[in-house]
Parts: sequence; structure tokens; C-alpha cells
Amino acid sequence: MKRLLVTGGAGFIGSNFIQQALRRREDLELLVNLDLLTYAGNLENLLPVQGDKRYVFVHGDIRDRALVEELFSRYAFDTVVHFAAESHVDRSIVEPEIFLTTNVIGTQTLLDAAKRHWKLEPDSKYSTEYKPGVVYLQVSTDEVYGALGKTGMFTETTPLAPNSPYSASKASADLVVRAYRQTYGMPVNITRCSNNYGPYQFPEKLIPLMLHNALEGKPLPVYGDGMQIRDWLHVSDHCSAILTVLDKGVRGEVYNIGGNNERANIEIVRLILDELGKPESLIRHVQDRPGHDRRYAIDNTKITGQLGWAPAYSFQQGMRETIEWYLQNPGWVERVTSGEYLDYYSRMYENA
Ligand code: NAD
Ligand code: DAU
Repeated sequence: MKRLLVTGGAGFIGSNFIQQALRRREDLELLVNLDLLTYAGNLENLLPVQGDKRYVFVHGDIRDRALVEELFSRYAFDTVVHFAAESHVDRSIVEPEIFLTTNVIGTQTLLDAAKRHWKLEPDSKYSTEYKPGVVYLQVSTDEVYGALGKTGMFTETTPLAPNSPYSASKASADLVVRAYRQTYGMPVNITRCSNNYGPYQFPEKLIPLMLHNALEGKPLPVYGDGMQIRDWLHVSDHCSAILTVLDKGVRGEVYNIGGNNERANIEIVRLILDELGKPESLIRHVQDRPGHDRRYAIDNTKITGQLGWAPAYSFQQGMRETIEWYLQNPGWVERVTSGEYLDYYSRMYENA
């Protein structure tokens, strides 16, 4: 991994990944961040790497074929880490189309450019063996597996059964990646991670939204009974897992990423109120999300057992640092929640 294309690097996980990759990989020659700067992308997240000579920002759309081709020609990438996506389930319920164009067509555009520039044609020898030295990593999600009952965990062979337009678009993209592996010998990895938390997460997602509202003394909108379960992982551990897959992953394979940390939503909300010394009377049980997945849980034994990855954060430490980060950065929250987000919030939570 010397010449890296990162997509969606101005978002939550992408910006944490860029910071970590540049910090940990001295042998990296170049890291290009292609990002459209939608409401979820914010260049302020990348201030810590602005002075790094290996880092280049390109403002553009992953669906823009000419641009993506031109970037491959100019920079000769050997590695692609594809984060860019529409990522919020609630938005996908009201506006599914952009999830399909960004998440599916955007993925196929990147795969096509990689295929052409890495010379992976169906009749080349690389249709039967993976070309060494290049890799396309698709950042996917545990949501492609659908929902679990009270027991069981998602393994890499759990059938895909997405329930929201968002997860359907991510599952569709995974299938396109798989098809490029089978048809053109594209050296791919797909990672499927559980829910992330940590610095720079946009306050439309559960943890930063609840933090933001609690600090402002606004109601905390909990969907339904709040007993839905998510498996939380600190974003820094997600990023270290991706670096591990790039380094040691067997090409063609899928790796689940998770830290065995299942929590009910209401437990998270109470923890935040408790840490901030705010009253539980701020909690409002509001109408449930349509098609709401009841429980996610990741079986991480493949990545821990075969690649030796392990999360570094405990949930207690990760949450304490995350809360501290939001307390220390009120200006960041204020800037990202102005404009488009205010309209979204009043439409989404008008009855809360
Ligand atoms: P995010 O919404 O915070 O960031 C998405 C980024 O993609 C933004 O910077 C945005 O500007 C950019 N983007 C959107 N459309 C684009 C386009 N057409 N062209 C170029 N850039 C575009 O998302 P996130 O939470 O950081 O998630 C990143 C990836 O990780 C996504 O693929 C998501 O599905 C996956 N994922 C997220 C989680 C999680 O808990 N947040 C867990 C597992 C997997
Ligand atoms: O599991 C990985 C996925 O995690 C990623 O693929 C997605 O990109 C990411 O957004 C996240 O999806 P979720 O739907 O699980 O995250 P969200 O933060 O939106 O919601 C977490 C839980 O909290 C979920 O059960 C819904 C609930 N919730 C959420 C919001 C925003 C509430 O109860 N109230 C809220 O206002």
C-alpha cells in the first residue's frame, strides 16, 4: 500500500481513517481523498493532516466517471478504500434514490476505473489469480445481513437480507464487488463493521444526536421502546481493522468487524444523560423507525483469529473520550448542524 485512493474521507469514518493511516504508515507515498462534501462531509475533520505533503484533497463525485478515470491516470493508485456513501438509514427511508445512485453506481464507477487501470480483463491471467500489489477494499456494514432475534450472531456466511433502502443499497454494492472479483479477478476485500462511535460523527446518528440534544436541554427522541440492540465499536478500532485487512487480508475475502459490545439504545441514552448530569425526563419515546432492525451482533472470530486484529478501546473508555471530544468541540457541532441539517431535523422530529 503506497498510493492510496480514499473516497468519502471528509466524513466520520473516512476522516478518522485518513488521520490514522497517515500517522501509522510512514511508507505511504500518497493519499488522495475524493469527496463530494455533501452535508455529511466536512474538511474541518481533516485539519490535522492539512500540512502533510502526502495528502491531496479532490472535491468531486465518485459517480463522475471521467474524473475517477483521470485520477487513476494521474496518480496510479495501487489501493482503493471506498467509504463514500449516503450512510443514514432514516434519510434512506424518505429519499431512497440517492442511496442507490451513490452507493451502487458510485461503487461500480470505482471498480470500472480500477479494472481498467490495473488491466484486469476477463481473458487476462488475472481473471484466475489475483494480481499482486493492488487491492480494492469495500467498506460495507453489518446491516446487509438484516436483523437478528434474541440469539445468534452475523458471520461472513450469513445470507444477505437487508431491510432498509440504505442497507439494500450497501448489499447491492457488495454484490457488484463480488461480481467483479468473480468475473474480472478484481483483488477485493469487503469489510462489514458494526455501529461506530467516536469523534467527528455527524449529529444525526444516535450517540452524537443524544449528546447534542442533552447539552441543549432538548428532548431525546428514542424510537419505539428503545430496546433495539446495536454492537458498538470505537471508530479508531474500525480504522485499525481496515489497515489490518489491507496488510494481511486474503484477497477475495469478506471480514466482519466488531468488538462484542452489544447495548440496547435506551442504555446508551441513559449513560449519556448520566455522564452529563442531565435528567431522564428529557427522554421521549417517539414513533418507531419503519422496518427497524431489532438486533445486530457481529461474530468477529475470522478477523481476530486469522488476521490477529483486536479492538484497543473498551466501551467505557471510548464513550468517556467521545463525550469529552464533543464537550471540547461545540464549534464543530454548531457548524455542521447549521444549514441543511436544521431543515432535516425539523422535518424528521416534528412531533418529538
Ligand atoms: P458519513 O455519512 O459520515 O460520510 C460519508 C462521506 O461520503 C461524506 O464525506 C460525504 O461527503 C461523502 N460522499 C457522499 N456521497 C459522495 C459522492 N457521490 N462522491 C464522493 N463523496 C461522497 O459516513 P460514515 O459514517 O463515515 O460511513 C462511511 C462508510 O462506512 C459508509 O460506506 C458506511 O456505509 C460505512 N459504515 C458506517 C458505519 C457507521 O456506524 N457509521 C458502520 C459500518 C459501515
Ligand atoms: O450497523 C452499522 C450501521 O450503523 C451503519 O451502516 C450506518 O451507516 C450507521 O448509520 C448505523 O446505522 P443505525 O441505523 O444503527 O444507526 P443510528 O445511529 O441511526 O441508530 C442507532 C439506533 O438508535 C437505531 O436502533 C435507531 C436508534 N435511534 C436513532 C436515532 C437517530 C433512535 O432511537 N433515535 C434517533 O433519533
